[in-house]
Amino acid sequence: MQTSLFFSLLLSLLASESTLAAISSSDVATAFSQAGIVPSIIPIFQPSAVIDVVYTDPTTQKVIDVTLGTNLTVQQTQNMPKFLLTPVSSTTSQEYVIALFDPDAPTPQNTSLAQFRHYLAGGYQQGGDGALTNGTPALTEYVPPGPPAGSDPHRYLVLVFAQSSDFDTKASSIVNASTPRTNFNITAFSHQLGLGAPIAGSFWFTGPEVASLPSVSTSANSSTATGAPSGAGAAARFNFGALLSALLAIGTLF
Ligand SMILES: *[C@@H]1O[C@H](CO)[C@@H](O)[C@H](O)[C@H]1NC(C)=O
Ligand SMILES: *[C@@H]1O[C@H](CO)[C@@H](O)[C@H](O)[C@H]1NC(C)=O
Ligand SMILES: *[C@@H]1O[C@H](CO)[C@@H](O)[C@H](O)[C@H]1NC(C)=O
Ligand SMILES: *[C@@H]1O[C@H](CO)[C@@H](O)[C@H](O)[C@H]1NC(C)=O
Ligand SMILES: *[C@@H]1O[C@H](CO)[C@@H](O)[C@H](O)[C@H]1NC(C)=O
Repeated sequence: MQTSLFFSLLLSLLASESTLAAISSSDVATAFSQAGIVPSIIPIFQPSAVIDVVYTDPTTQKVIDVTLGTNLTVQQTQNMPKFLLTPVSSTTSQEYVIALFDPDAPTPQNTSLAQFRHYLAGGYQQGGDGALTNGTPALTEYVPPGPPAGSDPHRYLVLVFAQSSDFDTKASSIVNASTPRTNFNITAFSHQLGLGAPIAGSFWFTGPEVASLPSVSTSANSSTATGAPSGAGAAARFNFGALLSALLAIGTLF
């Protein structure tokens, strides 16, 4: 895959840098073009700031700083991420809109449901440490990536926009809790609300969880074939059902 090759090169270039802050907004612009995000998903991208997306692994509590174009697991992206914007703006009253979406739903080869909106919220303000926080409800609450089984990894994009003055009064009539997450169009949304081009962005890849489906079905099969105690067979069938439901639940997301 061309984009993977590009990111291997980019990452080796960046490996010598010790902090994320060393990534410039022009590095991000280059990466977005090389990954085919500009101009096919967003027509114009001339970022003036760098967005740092930070996840916390729900099991290990390990902090995961999302480097541009990296691979994350479904597990690593379970919790709502934190956002940091650098540099710290001198305009302290400026508010920001953050969108997180998947342009590869249900698969990178078949984007009939894209864009899938994972998170959308305005009212973000930047603290002195660069952290973006908001006190208003999200237009779309966070759901983690859930690419369907068999799919190639999806791209997950985070874009930051300078919030327009009439955003608060208009946004919820365009996107609210009853607006389908599928077939979102970030460009149309930004036009409708006068947001202009994004001022910062990041992205990563997440592929489907590799489920232990073959080993479960084998044990169900062999227990039937060998006439194992019904308890074991029932347990195997139960696990199989639970796994299927889990996969189906994941399949409805992206
Ligand atoms: C991400 O995963 C792809 C396979 O899906 C692999 O080719 C690539 O090297 C990985 N990139 C990194 C930075 O680990
Ligand atoms: C593309 O995905 C949609 C939604 O899952 C599905 O209904 C459709 O059949 C798929 N199209 C192709 C060509 O696979
Ligand atoms: C919610 O959004 C939909 C568009 O998805 C819009 O038609 C509807 O009017 C909005 N609801 C409210 C209460 O604004
Ligand atoms: C998204 O919206 C833009 C601007 O309205 C439009 O040019 C573009 O064709 C739309 N994309 C899709 C996939 O509908
Ligand atoms: C069950 O075992 C048979 C014979 O080994 C095999 O052909 C079949 O595919 C297995 N079924 C499942 C669901 O694993």
